[in-house]
Amino acid sequence: MDQFVGSGTTLIETRLLERNGIGLDINPKAINISKSNLDFRTKSKSKIYLQEGNALDLSILKDNSIDLICTHPPYLNIIKYSKSITDDLSLASQDKFIFGIKKVAKEAYRVLKRQKHCCIMMGDIRQKGNVIPLGFKVMQEFLDAGFVLKEIIIKEQHHCKSTKLWEKANINFLLLAHEYIFVFKK
Ligand SMILES: C[S@@+](CC[C@H](N)C(=O)[O-])C[C@H]1O[C@@H](n2cnc3c(N)ncnc32)[C@H](O)[C@@H]1O
Repeated sequence: MDQFVGSGTTLIETRLLERNGIGLDINPKAINISKSNLDFRTKSKSKIYLQEGNALDLSILKDNSIDLICTHPPYLNIIKYSKSITDDLSLASQDKFIFGIKKVAKEAYRVLKRQKHCCIMMGDIRQKGNVIPLGFKVMQEFLDAGFVLKEIIIKEQHHCKSTKLWEKANINFLLLAHEYIFVFKK
């Protein structure tokens, strides 16, 4: 399951790996983009369910029903994914974002089967020149929800489309050139 499905990358890999998948996103535009990105020919017989949904409230899903969570929430508000959708975490202040992530972690823990894994990709951000360690703040919320931490994977990123933009904005600072993939287990 990817409850922040965006343009559907996780579900594309899901399909190529012949697994079944569920994709949710609070923004109906993301669901349409994912549908179109998943419209490719393959012999894979995987079943993919995509629908509008809120990662803060997964009441459409039963307790202990999901085999693997692999997801990628917004990094606070550095990219805004909508203008005014309620509970879109990309529109939240830092406090509201962390409060929202607390609910995301609680729901992820509830729906995941015991002994199964939950992988969260998250990056730190810089505001007014200062680093906000968003990655570790998010990690702590998942630990508080009951998960144990199996791995912290560092994903390096160089030569991104937006690197030039950040270089201009960050004069006198190092560029943030990595993201984390936290692998938790229930
Ligand atoms: C970083 S993007 C995901 C990118 C994705 N990995 C991809 O392949 O494009 C974050 C997504 O979270 C969605 N989102 C924000 N708040 C949400 C919420 N409360 N519940 C579900 N989706 C949410 C946004 O609409 C956006 O599509």
